Amino acid sequence: MPTLGRFHYLEALPSEASSSVRRPRGAGGGPLGTLVLIHGFPLTARMWEGQLRLASQGWRVIAPQLRGFDGTPAASPAASVDDFAGDLVDLLDGLHIDQAVIGGLSMGGYITFALFRHAARYFRGMVLADTRAPADPPQAVEGRQRMLQAVRERGVAAAADEMLPKLVCDATRANQPAVVDNLRTMMMGNSSEAVAGAILALMTRPDSTPVLATIHCPTLIVVGEQDAITPPSMSQDMQRGIAGAELVVIPEAGHMSNLEQPAAFNAALAHFLERNV
Ligand code: MLT
Repeated sequence: MPTLGRFHYLEALPSEASSSVRRPRGAGGGPLGTLVLIHGFPLTARMWEGQLRLASQGWRVIAPQLRGFDGTPAASPAASVDDFAGDLVDLLDGLHIDQAVIGGLSMGGYITFALFRHAARYFRGMVLADTRAPADPPQAVEGRQRMLQAVRERGVAAAADEMLPKLVCDATRANQPAVVDNLRTMMMGNSSEAVAGAILALMTRPDSTPVLATIHCPTLIVVGEQDAITPPSMSQDMQRGIAGAELVVIPEAGHMSNLEQPAAFNAALAHFLERNV
């Protein structure tokens, strides 16, 4: 995994073989642009491995490892979505990326909103996958507090046990056991400190509903048809709030739409990148 100082990230660059790209390549024959994908909770950047093949569409694809996840070093764990967003600004600056299509799944979407709030100038486009704009209501905060306590007592297995049953739809659980195994492996590779920090970030995140009307870059919203954590109605709410946003509902997918139906997810992204950005 490439590193830049304290940052770790997955990266795929367009190859010379990506001749299926209909548009001319960027200036000097380089990539058409950069796509940055931020991972969900309590996962790792590896959840985006299937999306690295979007590089064949002519795009540079980067999936940052959030602070402390997947065994990456962290002097202090993040405790807010703003901490994660600040790291992403540092990574983008370190890689000399002035503008990118930036997005994430679920917690990655919450962090995308935080980054937009602080540094909208980096956004050439936005991708919001299986996520929502509102903050946690009081009852959900209580649930987060219980999970935080459980993670402190029992480690990351406590978060994995609570999250896994909710992440994928029944068809995925029955027919794609490797997806569920992969999710558990990613979760168990994280430190309890990083996961606890992310729980704090989730439960303290602000309401991003007022941000929606300020988003004027091309925006793609994607959601699994059977997403039990952030159901399609929440994506419809975001679509109503963001002028011109496109919404794609992925059949036979739950919350982890990119892992459950990678071909449909990638097709939605490829279409968006080609037509809208
Ligand atoms: C995620 O997938 O990142 C989490 O489900 C987010 C959440 O629990 O709100």
